[in-house]
Order: sequence, then C-alpha cells, then structure tokens
Amino acid sequence: MALTWQAGHGHTKADDDVSKRLLESAATLSYDPSAEIDWDAPLPDDHFGLNPEWSTLYGTRLWDGMTERQRVTLTRHEVCSIMYTGIWFETILQQMVLRDQYLKNPASAEFQFALTEIADECRHSIMFARACAKMGVPAYRPNKLIAQAGRAFKAVARGELAYGGILVAEEVLDVMQRDWMRGENVLEIVRGTSRIHVLEESRHMKFARQEIRERMRHASPARRRASATGIAMGAYIIVTSMIHPGVYQAAGLDVQRALDEARASEHRKTMMRTSSRHLMAFLAETGLLTSRSAAVYRKVNML
Ligand SMILES: [Fe+2]
Ligand SMILES: [Fe+2]
Repeated sequence: MALTWQAGHGHTKADDDVSKRLLESAATLSYDPSAEIDWDAPLPDDHFGLNPEWSTLYGTRLWDGMTERQRVTLTRHEVCSIMYTGIWFETILQQMVLRDQYLKNPASAEFQFALTEIADECRHSIMFARACAKMGVPAYRPNKLIAQAGRAFKAVARGELAYGGILVAEEVLDVMQRDWMRGENVLEIVRGTSRIHVLEESRHMKFARQEIRERMRHASPARRRASATGIAMGAYIIVTSMIHPGVYQAAGLDVQRALDEARASEHRKTMMRTSSRHLMAFLAETGLLTSRSAAVYRKVNML
C-alpha cells in the first residue's frame, strides 16, 4: 500500500504530476550515445573543441598572438576539461539523488524519474569519457582541496542544497552546450554529444527546480539562508574548477599569463553573467538569492 511508504518532504499529487510528465517525455525521447554518435569519424584539423567565443582567452591580447593551431588545441583541451568536470559532477549527483530517494515509494513518479535521471547521467559520463579519449586529451582532475570539498558536499548535501548544486552545474553547462551544438567550426563529436546532453538535461533541470520548490515551501528563514549560502559555495567550486590550468600548458602558453588574462577578460565576465541570468532569476524567485550568496555569485561573475 502506498500509505506505508514515506511521503518525505511534503510531496503532493501535483508535484508528482510534474515527475509523471518528465517520465513520459523520457520514454518518448532519450538517446543512446553509443549508437547516436559516429565514434569512428576522423577529426578535421581545423575544427575547434568549442566555439572560440567560449574559450577563456577569447578577446585577450594573448589570444590575438596565438596561432590557429594553438587556438584549436586550446579549445579542445578546454572542452575536455569541462567534460571531465561534468563527469566528476555527474558522479556526485548520482550519489546525492540515490540517497535522497532511499526508501521512498517506488511506485511514485518522483522515484522513477529520479532513477531515470541517474541512468541518463551514467550514459552521459561514459559519452563524455569517450569524447575526451577520441580527442586524445587525458583526464583533468580537480586539485586535492577541491576534490575534498566535493566529497564533503556530496556527503552532507540534502534536499534543496543537493538539487541546488545540481541545478547550478546543469544550467551553466546548458547555455554553453546550446552554442557548441550549433557551432559550424566545432568538432562534430562535441556538437553531437552536446545535442544529446541539452535535450536530456532540460528534463533534469525541470526536476531539480521542482524538487527545490517543494523543499522551500515550508523551509524556515534560517534554513533558506543556510541553503542559499551552501548552493553559492557549490557554484563557486563548480565554475572555478571548470577549466584546468593544464589546458594552457597543452597549447604551449605561459600558464600564469593565461590565467591572469582569462581572469581579467571582460568578454569572459559577460559570457558568465549572461549564461547565469536564468539561474539567478530562479534563485531569486525561490528565496535562495540572499545578500551573502549574491556576493559569492558576484565574485565569480555570475551576477
Ligand atoms: Fe548529464
Ligand atoms: Fe543532469
């Protein structure tokens, strides 16, 4: 009987309808990357890893002095660095979502969609791993401190904190990938994997927003403020770890100079701010944009 299962966080019938629609959508349109992507196609020499405008150095003096070859190499390493960060985050996500669903009603659409999302992330991580191998870029990993922070976050994050972290990563990636999938001078392997990811992640983002709204419905002001800060800290880690400094070395650049110019780039700041607009609006709407969290977002140019 359904009544014997824990309903959890004040989850209502209307909430479950959202999950039901997402489940139906997943049944209608989901992808198998192993069949969908042409993994054997050669990589044209002149194709970028991501649209040059998405390179951390685009528009800097350093970029202007780079050869076309260096630009291609840099963007391929940058896209792989982001994909490796994606894999890292997807493994965190899977653990958090699975724990959140522990002993919840298996008959509910919420439970079934949560597990569908985990299955999606499994395919995504394998897809990104194969794409990086194809581009010949070895694994970039976060440094020890950040790796430990990630471990701590996934161990303690619950409810809106877990889904907030998930939403940040998904939103930021979504905006970039929408450009990558349309980039005519971007590698087909990046365009194809981005198309699959954008489509399946749009359901994940709807699910995360729904979960956050549910948890915030009865949250006390103190809990709301604490979660807002926690999500902002998660966002800080995510956006500062996306690009590994090793990408500059791979392109034959002076790493310190590249880091300095990337950090000072006005173009970069604008790209970050524009791609975070939707996320910031949602956080504001749910009361998760506090003065303390806004200060963190400003620091990483998301606001
Ligand atoms: Fe994913
Ligand atoms: Fe996702």
